[in-house]
Amino acid sequence: MSREARPHSADGSLAWFSGSAAGRIGAAGILLRADRRMSTLVAVESRLKAITESNRMSWNTIAPRRSGIATDRLRAGEVSLADFERRLAGDVTGRRVVHLACSYGDEVLSWANLGAVATGVDISDVAVAEAKSRAAEAGIEADFRRADMLDPPADLAELDLVYLSWGAICWVPDLIGFATMIAGRLRPGGAVLLCDHHPAWEVLAVRGDDHLAVAGDYFGRDRPNVDQDDAKRPQGARGEPDAPRFSAFVWPVSDVVMALVGAGLRLDAFFEAPEPALYAGLGQTAGALPAYYVIKATKPDPTKPDPTKPDPTKPDPIRPGPTKPELTRPEPI
Ligand SMILES: C[S@@+](CC[C@H](N)C(=O)[O-])C[C@H]1O[C@@H](n2cnc3c(N)ncnc32)[C@H](O)[C@@H]1O
Repeated sequence: MSREARPHSADGSLAWFSGSAAGRIGAAGILLRADRRMSTLVAVESRLKAITESNRMSWNTIAPRRSGIATDRLRAGEVSLADFERRLAGDVTGRRVVHLACSYGDEVLSWANLGAVATGVDISDVAVAEAKSRAAEAGIEADFRRADMLDPPADLAELDLVYLSWGAICWVPDLIGFATMIAGRLRPGGAVLLCDHHPAWEVLAVRGDDHLAVAGDYFGRDRPNVDQDDAKRPQGARGEPDAPRFSAFVWPVSDVVMALVGAGLRLDAFFEAPEPALYAGLGQTAGALPAYYVIKATKPDPTKPDPTKPDPTKPDPIRPGPTKPELTRPEPI
């Protein structure tokens, strides 16, 4: 190897880098590589943005075909949330709750019925207009914003709860960016509650009794599935051959957990569950598969004790103190 090509001159200086022709070429090479990496990032970002935009147009097309519960039921105080969602969220009275990818708003109106200061965010203009008119019909105070959930309006900050459900995470093209954004919008002690279709369900297509086919890549990540099985298409597109296509991202559950933990959130609840109705036509084995999963992750509050760490004022439940009196060593005879 020539002296010029070495990273450092014998005296440790960077003279080779600034002074020599090879050094100049090396520096240009580094800049060129950085430049290429930047153009690749820009190209990836614009590809993902184009996918989101195409999905937005598809959602606008099918939004009028989608419907929620009757608004007089919401007006009467009905809540369209599962019991476990309510339990995990805790008391939301007076709390700032934001539902990302809220569609026509039933869950936002439900959080409002439970006493929350509720806001829904959705990328579809049609869905947001519908949600606003349903809120007016139901006489429920709630706010709806049209925005990409990766970049919600800046005033949606210091939140107590970010909620996403049933067909939300599959529209997120950048999981780490999304988790980082959520962590940034929560107040310390605030939490994200995600209840969504299991990615295994997303990629498994029922073909008959006890018969499944793999119709997607469980590890697809930012390579979206554009040929979803009809049963996995959104309500409003299912069974409609003329309905527009969607590009749905399949994120392994472990990626979702690690993105949230990596963004600094504490995992408080995580479970996977069956729902035989989601594997309609499969027969007896439908209950033997995961259909959905639920995650609650909290932004740690440095002013409060960490519930995952033992409380020094209470007996440690894992290693309780000695229950027998200390044995004294017999005196040597
Ligand atoms: C299946 S729905 C959400 C489910 C909702 N919990 C429900 O049951 O109606 C999906 C919603 O996500 C919205 N969406 C898709 N991509 C989005 C994005 N990037 N930002 C915000 N909303 C998005 C769609 O417009 C659609 O209303």
